[in-house]
Amino acid sequence: MKNKKYKAKKSRGLILKDGSLIYAALPLQISEKKVLASVSQPPFFNQDNFVLYLGDSLKIMEQLSDNCIDMIFADPPYNLSNGGFTVHAGRRVSVNKGDWDKSRGFKDDYDFHYRWLSACRRILKPHGTLWVSGTYHSIYQCGHALQSLGYHILNDIAWFKPNASPNLSGRYFTASHETLIWARKDAKAKHTFNYKDIKNGNWLYDFLKKPGKQMRSVWAIGTPKPEEKKFGKHPTQKPVDLLKRIVVASTNKDDIILDPFAGSSTTGLAAIAHGRKFVGIDTEKDYLELSKKRFNYLILKT
Ligand SMILES: C[S@@+](CC[C@H](N)C(=O)[O-])C[C@H]1O[C@@H](n2cnc3c(N)ncnc32)[C@H](O)[C@@H]1O
Repeated sequence: MKNKKYKAKKSRGLILKDGSLIYAALPLQISEKKVLASVSQPPFFNQDNFVLYLGDSLKIMEQLSDNCIDMIFADPPYNLSNGGFTVHAGRRVSVNKGDWDKSRGFKDDYDFHYRWLSACRRILKPHGTLWVSGTYHSIYQCGHALQSLGYHILNDIAWFKPNASPNLSGRYFTASHETLIWARKDAKAKHTFNYKDIKNGNWLYDFLKKPGKQMRSVWAIGTPKPEEKKFGKHPTQKPVDLLKRIVVASTNKDDIILDPFAGSSTTGLAAIAHGRKFVGIDTEKDYLELSKKRFNYLILKT
């Protein structure tokens, strides 16, 4: 019966629009079940190596055993929703993303980052790596916390957004980048870096990457395309191109990738599209519903 389901899906096509192959339709692997067996609550969604939990990531992560995750991508709250304004589609709009994004003051924000980064470090495999994204509102706190916890920084990436919104006040430079810190759990272990795939891959949309040359630490990637928001949008949704690059660079097929602040699960889509396994956690049901729709579209095109 399971095989039938798999074949049916396969016949519906596992080739993405950009020509890349999806390996995702394999049934959930036994090792996966072991990794998640210690979590007391049932997943919100669990299909074909794409698993979502509704809840506080600290509470879910504390139930996982030590050294069980290959890579973590974390896009935590930036703590910038405090009444400011920005421009969207030529209109002045509030930057309030939701209560989850409000600052609780410097110390509480820092404590939060320290706690989730500590939880991530325990569950990462020794060679495992963590990516964390942020703007100046949060990234320095995250960097301080992760260095205090003993992570070893591998790179900081400047994600340049060529189509960033203009600055309204005319009193500052236009904010047009985010920073991604890439760090390894252990100072000495050998981490995954798929050097040739990155150097020789097809990154033509990035005008800073020259074909056949090493990729530098500044990436030019636009904000999510309209088709990435066809089922609704998350207020801080990341572009799939950004996550695909991260997944290809720092993981291997069948690796387990965890995102403790999954939102619309952009990380999960990139993971599944490249034959990796995904565990995503978010406190907001609406965002996980959106994740499900995006996953179903990726797999079944429905
Ligand atoms: C910056 S957004 C992530 C967006 C995501 N990268 C995407 O592409 O859609 C941060 C997410 O963290 C979630 N969140 C905030 N605090 C959380 C917590 N303690 N546990 C789990 N999720 C949390 C929010 O609901 C929000 O969806």
